[in-house]
Amino acid sequence: MEQPNVRLEAMTEESLDDVLKIQKESFGKESRSDFLNCISRSEVYSYFVLVDEKKNVIGYYGTMNISGDGELLTIAVKTEHRGKGYGELMLRSAVLSAALKGSTKMFLEVDETNKPAIGLYAKFGFVPISKREKYYGENAAIIMEYDIEKNAK
Ligand SMILES: CC(C)(COP(=O)(O)OP(=O)(O)OC[C@H]1O[C@@H](n2cnc3c(N)ncnc32)[C@H](O)[C@@H]1OP(=O)(O)O)[C@@H](O)C(=O)NCCC(=O)NCCS
Repeated sequence: MEQPNVRLEAMTEESLDDVLKIQKESFGKESRSDFLNCISRSEVYSYFVLVDEKKNVIGYYGTMNISGDGELLTIAVKTEHRGKGYGELMLRSAVLSAALKGSTKMFLEVDETNKPAIGLYAKFGFVPISKREKYYGENAAIIMEYDIEKNAK
């Protein structure tokens, strides 16, 4: 499959208009403040955008790293670019950046009905560890974990 050259860049205010469009098409809402709070606190949060050679935003992700635990807070790929490996590429970067910040485990929560996301996480090696009923309206959240330390060996 032909893919454009892509690279990851730290999310900045300039990329937020594009990020919000992807957030809207992915999650049905857009919230600039979600991102503004996080991109201004890089000691805790790592927010990145995946861009093509023309600086078009293809996707984004955000993680939080506190006390040896990383958490994937969000990840999304523009609809037209799904299924091309970009989600996996960003997840790999999220885990690597969590490891570099000293996290030994990475956690996330995902709607039990979100098959593409669960497929992505499971393929990478995340395992379900618990479930929170009715976390997303009627749907439960599955909590998944990736053992960075163990998988690095
Ligand atoms: C989840 C998401 C980020 C995946 O991104 P993507 O770029 O399409 O995923 P990739 O192409 O990297 O796929 C990697 C793996 O994920 C899994 N996957 C991806 N799409 C899938 C689908 N529609 N159904 C089942 N598994 C899927 C597969 O295991 C795939 O590996 P394969 O291609 O070897 O089969 C994307 O679907 C998305 O943005 N969804 C909306 C936002 C969202 O739900 N985010 C997660 C919130 S918890």
